[in-house]
Parts: sequence; C-alpha cells; structure tokens
Amino acid sequence: MSTATHSTKSPRQLYTMAKTLGIWDPAKIDLTEDKVHWGKLNLEQQGQIIKTCALFYEGEVSVSDTLAWFMLAIPDLDRRMFLSTQIFEEVKHAEFFERYFQEVCGKVDTAAYLVPDYKGVLLDELRSRGEAIGKAVTTGQTDALGLALTLFAAHYMGVVEGIMALTGYEFFEDLLAKTGMFPRLLEGIQLIRADEGRHLVHGMDYLREQIQSHPEYAEPVRELFMREAAAIPRRNNFVFTPNPLGLDRERIQEISYANHVQRMREAGLN
Ligand SMILES: [Fe+2]
Ligand SMILES: [Fe+2]
Repeated sequence: MSTATHSTKSPRQLYTMAKTLGIWDPAKIDLTEDKVHWGKLNLEQQGQIIKTCALFYEGEVSVSDTLAWFMLAIPDLDRRMFLSTQIFEEVKHAEFFERYFQEVCGKVDTAAYLVPDYKGVLLDELRSRGEAIGKAVTTGQTDALGLALTLFAAHYMGVVEGIMALTGYEFFEDLLAKTGMFPRLLEGIQLIRADEGRHLVHGMDYLREQIQSHPEYAEPVRELFMREAAAIPRRNNFVFTPNPLGLDRERIQEISYANHVQRMREAGLN
C-alpha cells in the first residue's frame, strides 16, 4: 500500500474510480448519425478529419503497447493496480477509433499519416523509453530504472497525454461547434477525455514525486519538455495544412503551449 501523501487523488482512489467510470463500451456508441454527416463533407474536409483520427488511433495503439513496461517495473502496488485499468482503457480508446474508421471514414492506412514529427514522439521514442525500463529491470540496474521510469512518465503522461492528446480533443470540440456535425465522434472523445483525466492525474503525480525525491532527474525531464515545446508549431502545421474545415489553428496552438506550461508546473519544473 502506498504511504506517500498525495495532493490530488491517490493511485488507489483513481483505481476505484476507474472500476466504475472506465467501463464504457466503444462498441455501444451508435455511429449512424456521423456516417450521414461524413457523406456531406468534400474529400479535402474528410481528409483533415482522417488525419487527426489517424494520429489519435496510432497514438492509442502505441501507448497501449508500451504501458506494460511501466506497469511491470513500478514498485508501488497501488500504482500497478491503477495502471492495469489504464492499459485496458487505452486499448478501448484505440478500439473506438478503429470502429470509427470501419463505420464512418472507411478503410484508411493510418500509418501513412505518421510523418517524422509524430512517428518519433508517438511510436519510436516512446518504445525506446519502454525498452530502457525493460533493460534496467532485466539487468538489475536500480539507478537507471528510476530515471527510465521518470522519463517514460514525462514522455507518456506529460507530453503525449498531457500536451498532444489534450490539445487534439480541442480540435474535435471545434469541429462540432463549427459544423454542428459528428456528435458521436465528440461523444467518444469526451469519454476518452474523462479516462485520460485519471491517467494524467496519476502520471503527473508520479512525475512530481520522482523529481522531488530525486532532484537530479529535474534536468533531463526539463530537457525533454523543452525539446517537445520546440516541436509544437510543426505538429500544429501538419494538422492545419491544409485547413479545409476552417478551424482556428491559432487557438489550438495556444492551447498546446498552455498545456505545456501547465504540465511543467505540475512536475514542479517552473
Ligand atoms: Fe488513451
Ligand atoms: Fe491515456
């Protein structure tokens, strides 16, 4: 049982919440209305939605695949209990987008949208961070393990969930607000977002705790955050070039930076 004090919800409380709140079923969302709306868009407009959904889908599959490294190596039992719910939820998030492609957008090669600015952060670098945990565990390197777990949390919860996904949700909010279409897509996003709230609370709490107890981790985590901040405009450009849906790219970019500042603050870095 965790003996740490928590300013937010404890891992055990988050686990308890997940048992009742994290059990929504992506297969039960009726996508008929969205399918009708899809047919009303032109190819370019459809392309912008496909691009965003493809990045989300690839991201959700990748985080589902890598989170097991983190779960198996984290010493605290309550955190492992919570992380077992998180893996289940990430898999369901991927399932939601998989269904959305099958039933609304049609067959899409989602990997084709993984340009380097996204493929690195969502897939390759995240996998490397997971493998660094695995290597430290199997070779018994306790010092390396602490840093590997911390950098994994900064990358996964701080950047992928706490900056990229949180910003991406706003794209879908804007889409519905502007077009009055795709209510079921937004319904799925809101359910995903509620799950992600727990993932983020847990992850940022862990990150802050690690940096507090190991001040030497602060610098590598800061470096990671600053490198990712530099990529924000390029990632934003990819989603908004072209911008046939006419969504507010400036607003989305500002949200991205605001999320970045907030995550660094939660980690105790500014
Ligand atoms: Fe997710
Ligand atoms: Fe998540």
